[in-house]
Amino acid sequence: MAEVDARADRRSEGIVINDDWPGYSLDLFSYPAHYSGDLDCVIVPHGVIMDRTERLARNIMDDLGDHDIVVLCVLKGGYQFCADLVERIKALSRNSNHTIPMRVHFIRLRSYLNDQSTEDLHILGAEDLSFLAGKNVLIVEGIVGTGKTMETLLEHVKAFKPKMIKVAGLLVKRVQHSLASVPDYVGFEIPNRFVVGYALDYNEYFRDLNHICIISESGKKKYKV
Ligand code: HPA
Ligand code: MG
Repeated sequence: MAEVDARADRRSEGIVINDDWPGYSLDLFSYPAHYSGDLDCVIVPHGVIMDRTERLARNIMDDLGDHDIVVLCVLKGGYQFCADLVERIKALSRNSNHTIPMRVHFIRLRSYLNDQSTEDLHILGAEDLSFLAGKNVLIVEGIVGTGKTMETLLEHVKAFKPKMIKVAGLLVKRVQHSLASVPDYVGFEIPNRFVVGYALDYNEYFRDLNHICIISESGKKKYKV
């Protein structure tokens, strides 16, 4: 039984990347030359993101696949994960004997300046979400830190009375004092470091990097505002 429980836990926390893991050397992968010197290492290569996303899509379909789904993509950091996740959900739906209607809606949140979370959280494109009433909602986020952003968003979405709300987060940071609300579907649990790539930015840079990488100190200086 203990073994089964451990496996269930692992499924909910995602692939765990430990604090002492040094990451992959950048020399082992290709990445845009304009970012040379701006990164310390690769912590999740693009191919691994894709493989993990495929499995998350299956878990999501197992849980939500018998109802209409409204995907709420949290911009901008969630766009790549959302696009790839939706592709995989579509593929699974195509190959099953009943396909499910899926809507994709975009909302925009912004709370980071440089590598710091700011207090004022803006939600754009979420003014009228009344079409969520009675629907299964899947919120798709690129990264969850303290969970404060997610908590605010969940409160906002709940007010529109959806039938069910699930959250998929590609990355969850191991932060102290993090709130209880963690995503239902987690790609990777990562150290509390600032990461970029796969649509995650530092002041709008690095969205054009495929791998998830740790930004270097000189990279932070170079793109600081
Ligand atoms: N990288 C990019 N955006 C973020 C991060 C991060 O580590 N944490 C919260 N937003
Ligand atoms: Mg950002």
